[in-house]
Amino acid sequence: MSQPPYGDPAPVTSGSSGSSGDAAPTASGPSGSPAASAVSGDAAPTARLLPGGPVAERILAEVAGRVAALVRRGVTPALATVLVGDDDASAGYIRIKQRQAAELGFASPHAHLPADATQADLHSVIESFNADPAVHGLLVQYPVPAHLDYDRALMAVDPDKDVDGMHPLNMGRLALGLPGPLPCTPAGIEELLAHHGIPVSGREVVILGRGATLGRPLAMLLGQKRPTANAAVTVVHTGVPDWTRYTRRADILIAAAGVPGIIRPEHVKPGAVVIGGGVRYAGRRLLPDVDESCAQVAGAITPRVGGVGPTTVAMLFRNAVAAAERATAAANGPGDRRISG
Ligand SMILES: NC(=O)c1ccc[n+]([C@@H]2O[C@H](COP(=O)([O-])OP(=O)(O)OC[C@H]3O[C@@H](n4cnc5c(N)ncnc54)[C@H](OP(=O)(O)O)[C@@H]3O)[C@@H](O)[C@H]2O)c1
Repeated sequence: MSQPPYGDPAPVTSGSSGSSGDAAPTASGPSGSPAASAVSGDAAPTARLLPGGPVAERILAEVAGRVAALVRRGVTPALATVLVGDDDASAGYIRIKQRQAAELGFASPHAHLPADATQADLHSVIESFNADPAVHGLLVQYPVPAHLDYDRALMAVDPDKDVDGMHPLNMGRLALGLPGPLPCTPAGIEELLAHHGIPVSGREVVILGRGATLGRPLAMLLGQKRPTANAAVTVVHTGVPDWTRYTRRADILIAAAGVPGIIRPEHVKPGAVVIGGGVRYAGRRLLPDVDESCAQVAGAITPRVGGVGPTTVAMLFRNAVAAAERATAAANGPGDRRISG
């Protein structure tokens, strides 16, 4: 499993949808789907927009309050970052996280390894952050240079400090319904739906994509017994050639494929909620899974930019402050060291 730089930058977007004259690759659509869009690209969007910005602001305000409470107790929460190599975009993502960390009151120790660092060098830095009691959260920026194994590095991160919620132990906790840091983007999508008052419980959610970072954990999350989840979840993928049969009946359709423009209006039930989670970057250009023309069919839809992405970043900091609270509780006495989201 690997961690793309979700929602990290303020991306430069293409002026058109991913499937209309853009230089970006486009989805050919599943077999049997109509070749042309069911809706003219000229019609005005009708769907209500579901921006992620206000959701992120609310979560970050909550995080800031929790950071302030820790600081009052003499604890400065610290989110450490590790960058390997000289990729400009990755360095930019780290700067954005450090700026956000500083605004929230986190310390943000950072290790920058050269592009020719070995796997052992990377693990040595991870181990030193793991062992440092002043560091509560740890993030290894994706991608790492091709000669390094990102997944092995992720496994080396102390699960208690895993702010991405992607360590296998934490994914296992999610599968078992145990408390723990949640994968940021799936958790952000649940928050986004709840924030905008979209009922999920008892409704049919169809997720296109079963990837380890988004579709699979999201299916586990939204299927849990909880008022903001509790859904009938169906996951479709390349093994389901007629996947539009499922997406067309979804009350809530969530794109998690990473195939620009793969979701088109004819794949959406009129009035359905459409969440664009999957994106691909062409340089800094964002190419979403959901074609913009879906707004003419959907009842509510995430905007092309500023939908799921901001909630992902906010959930990262929520995981980080929770990690600091747990570590402090453990250090301060016989407290319970179980992870608790
Ligand atoms: N917005 C955000 O903040 C955010 C956060 C996290 C991830 N993402 C994005 O979410 C996307 C998914 O990431 P991931 O790592 O979870 O997934 P992934 O491992 O890339 O898997 C993609 C999934 O989509 C399915 N798929 C691809 N093309 C398809 C097609 N033509 N028809 C049907 N299914 C198709 C694949 O099916 P198979 O399994 O059959 O191959 C697979 O299950 C990526 O674009 C990623 O960048 C965005």
